[in-house]
Amino acid sequence: MSFSIADLFSQHNSEKFELHENYLNNQMVRVLKTIGYDRNYTKAQGQYLYDQDNTEYLDCLSGFGVFAVGRNHPTVVKALQETLTLELPNLVQMDVSVLSGLLAKKLIETTPDNLQKMFFCNSGTEAVEAAIKFARYTTKREKIVFCDHGYHGLTMGSLSLVGDDIFREGFGPLLPECHPVPFNDLSALEAALKNSDVAAFIVEPIQGKGVNIPDDNYLPEVERLCKKYGTLFVADEVQTGIGRTGKFWAIDHWNVKPDMICMAKALSGGFVPVGGVAMTDHIMETVFNRMDRAVVHGSTFSKNNMAMAAGLATLQVMEDEKLVENCAKVGEEIIQQVNALSSKYEFLKEARGKGLMIAIEFHAPKSLTLKAAWATLEAANKGLFCQMITIPLFKDHHLLTQVAGHGMNIVKLLPPLNLTSKDRDWIINSFDQAIADTHQIPGSIWSLGKNLASHALKSKKGS
Ligand SMILES: Cc1ncc(COP(=O)(O)O)c(C=O)c1O
Repeated sequence: MSFSIADLFSQHNSEKFELHENYLNNQMVRVLKTIGYDRNYTKAQGQYLYDQDNTEYLDCLSGFGVFAVGRNHPTVVKALQETLTLELPNLVQMDVSVLSGLLAKKLIETTPDNLQKMFFCNSGTEAVEAAIKFARYTTKREKIVFCDHGYHGLTMGSLSLVGDDIFREGFGPLLPECHPVPFNDLSALEAALKNSDVAAFIVEPIQGKGVNIPDDNYLPEVERLCKKYGTLFVADEVQTGIGRTGKFWAIDHWNVKPDMICMAKALSGGFVPVGGVAMTDHIMETVFNRMDRAVVHGSTFSKNNMAMAAGLATLQVMEDEKLVENCAKVGEEIIQQVNALSSKYEFLKEARGKGLMIAIEFHAPKSLTLKAAWATLEAANKGLFCQMITIPLFKDHHLLTQVAGHGMNIVKLLPPLNLTSKDRDWIINSFDQAIADTHQIPGSIWSLGKNLASHALKSKKGS
């Protein structure tokens, strides 16, 4: 019998929700159906998704940031096809591979000059786990300091550094000696470091949950304080890295030199899971200090040829298509044009971000009718107002977006970096109309709001 993925896809795509209800996480299906995101996508190309009716959607989520070069980019596809057909030796293990050597070299060319070595793994959370272990071993210290509202992944070590209770609750005890400090607060950081007993301070240069941008002196001072107290400065660039913020690394906005950079997501080209840590020679040589410790940290699939080929092809596309520059330009235009709408709309607080990592934040309005409607939604579930933006954006304007985190009224844009000016206009016009509709009370959008509030209240009672 011939085996064909194309046949499996076409024969069963319409059963996907049922399959997930029966064999995977049923709650995800419930969420999708509740907010009307339950589509049968059949094709994806660049920044667009297509459903069975060939309706085009602009993907402003890009798989949580993995599709920086767009979906199914031909250069990445070709690199992967070649890698498959060449019958290369792969994962020999008692060997070193050329593709991982080449990718490490390319990446190190992009990082600050104090970073000379790469470690590869399979995901963002694994990169963070590696950084925790490397920091402890290098400094011979136990404590790790991280930021409130930070996000670093969901395995036990990285989860211990996540500032959001919903992810942690019930999974403890987590890693000991992990201490939170407020983001963008230098005195709290100095107080946490001043006993010179902290192995690492791990921080996202721009926080993903909420798109929080630090003051301009924050990261330079973080670097200074970490040096002063012998703490390693770890930049978690899993989301912000590889061009996302309009510079190749977000730390380049502030010209700082961390001791380690964690990376993942976009490096995959959207195809093959990959993660990595760039570090100083000193860290590499301390952790891997003897032949009998050559495999003291690692993972079976890391450095596999497909992941390395995807990484190399992704970096080539970024360069060929000048995606970092495009991201900076289009991102800036979106932020400016959304901010220009704020004089028209009371609910709209601001757009902020760097490059194509953008938050569009809403807040309580001043006028009485709008204020009362806002309060009803907030009482049912904090952050619910945002769903009245994201749902019509998707349903009526075919824009796939997400809320920026639990309990916040922030819509986040994390699209592929190849957005065109037509896509930019699509985004601006869609937000303009979706926000305008929320100012019509009563109106169809507020019927949706009522519905969402009653769902939220029911689910609160059920929990
Ligand atoms: C800053 C940051 N660190 C780590 C992670 C975890 O990466 P992964 O989901 O690949 O484990 C994420 C994922 O969103 C992230 O945004």
